[in-house]
Amino acid sequence: MRPGNHTIDEERQGEAVGPRSGNKGGRKLYLESYGCQMNFSDSEIVASILADAGYATTKEEGEADLILLNTCSIRDNAEQRIRHRLQHLKRGKRNNPKLKVGILGCMAERLRDQLLEEEKLVDLVVGPDAYRDLPRLVDEVEGGQKAVNTLLSREETYAEIQPVRLDDKGVTGFISIMRGCDNMCSFCVVPFTRGRERSRDPQSIVSEAHDLFAKGYREVTLLGQNVDSYKWNVDVKGQVKDPEQPIVRFAQLMDLVSDVNPDLRVRFSTSHPKDMTDEVLEVMARKDNLCKYIHLPVQSGHSDVLKRMNRGYTREWYKNRIAAIRRIMPDCAISTDVIAGFCGETLEEHEATLSLMNEVRYEMAYMFKYSERPRTLAERKFEDDVPEEEKGRRLSEIISVQKGHSMERTAAQCGKIYRILVEGPSKKNKEEYQGRNTYNTVVVFSRTDEQPGQYAYVRTTDHTAATLRGESVEEAVAVKEGFVA
Ligand code: SAH
Ligand code: SF4
Ligand code: F3S
Repeated sequence: MRPGNHTIDEERQGEAVGPRSGNKGGRKLYLESYGCQMNFSDSEIVASILADAGYATTKEEGEADLILLNTCSIRDNAEQRIRHRLQHLKRGKRNNPKLKVGILGCMAERLRDQLLEEEKLVDLVVGPDAYRDLPRLVDEVEGGQKAVNTLLSREETYAEIQPVRLDDKGVTGFISIMRGCDNMCSFCVVPFTRGRERSRDPQSIVSEAHDLFAKGYREVTLLGQNVDSYKWNVDVKGQVKDPEQPIVRFAQLMDLVSDVNPDLRVRFSTSHPKDMTDEVLEVMARKDNLCKYIHLPVQSGHSDVLKRMNRGYTREWYKNRIAAIRRIMPDCAISTDVIAGFCGETLEEHEATLSLMNEVRYEMAYMFKYSERPRTLAERKFEDDVPEEEKGRRLSEIISVQKGHSMERTAAQCGKIYRILVEGPSKKNKEEYQGRNTYNTVVVFSRTDEQPGQYAYVRTTDHTAATLRGESVEEAVAVKEGFVA
């Protein structure tokens, strides 16, 4: 869910997070997150819950009393990565026999106590809806027992928990607006690991956005597996729950969050083609601080595959949604997710994906080989019959088509002035800054007086498939010549 062109694997490598602890006497927590942004956001809730129980986060693995891995199950290789990491942790445990190791997140939920049997060094297994129970579970573990809680909930949204912000840049923050997923796409493990869909109280979302703005953040990304089905004050049958209160759907929520401050940029992820409404697009078009970027995963360009995937839309419906975006916001950037070699995918069906990509010309795409997941509908109903090598071949074709489009898209963004939110020093060269324009394209430019968290005006002069490069210009120049907000 993060920017980055033709990434072939969405899971982020494990990232340790957390300011260095100032808590000398207390216990130390080393928290590592894998998978999607929701996991990274959940880790901030975990840090908050455990801070109340006397654990300060540390960035030094070696000084930790407790190591927690917040894990991902989306594809088999995501789980393999965690297994390798656990092998590595064995050494840490040999050096410090008091060290406790816990598994959180989707792999914890999928494998439950089986994990304790398979991975002897694991002391603690906690699923995504059970984090409030962590202080008790950690107590048990400290007492020398093993502890597991993988109960899923229909209500838990951690609404009132103030996340401990673990990203020390302090410019862009994430807010979970809902949890779980009810869609049951046939390839996907998420409904099993995250449980039923539930939306979070809009007031708590807006107040979290206010809080982030007050702390100096200038961008929030609203997170959900299907943000378009966000709803508040409506029951399952679509009836109003409290007639005194307004109904809040995603369009109204975006309006509310964008009103927090015109200098707070708002992004969101992920949209679902079957649920994305024109109303949402119209709100986006109306407000400059709602960034002109939509991640709209297509998965496949062939309606028969989409049917087997249980995605709830056809190729024509998807194209209609793309047309709606182009009509309402002619300049909106669009990215996607694609799966190569799903069960029974014929060459013709694969080519339909390529042709759809050629029609839409995405700014960016996350592209994957199909990986069969236990318990999913596809695992039970279909054969994973596209040979591994052929999946690889199809994936490379998809990547190569996308590379061309990404290059074309960044080329088209060259030679204009953009308002950029400065995020910090560029990854490659500390003498330069990096930020993103409204279209979510990374822009690198020479350092100026602006500080991270401020806006700069940058004229783009050069590009690769993933990045724009440019020079900053005075605001007066940007206003005179015109700029993209
Ligand atoms: N809720 C989001 C997707 C979350 S998972 C949505 O519906 O768009 C992120 C991406 O991982 C998916 O869009 C899909 O492209 C990919 N993915 C999910 N399960 C997969 C599997 N079993 N094999 C390969 N890719 C998968
Ligand atoms: Fe998985 Fe589909 Fe839900 Fe996305 S919408 S999380 S792909 S089940
Ligand atoms: Fe992975 Fe769970 Fe997210 S399976 S992609 S961490 S919801």
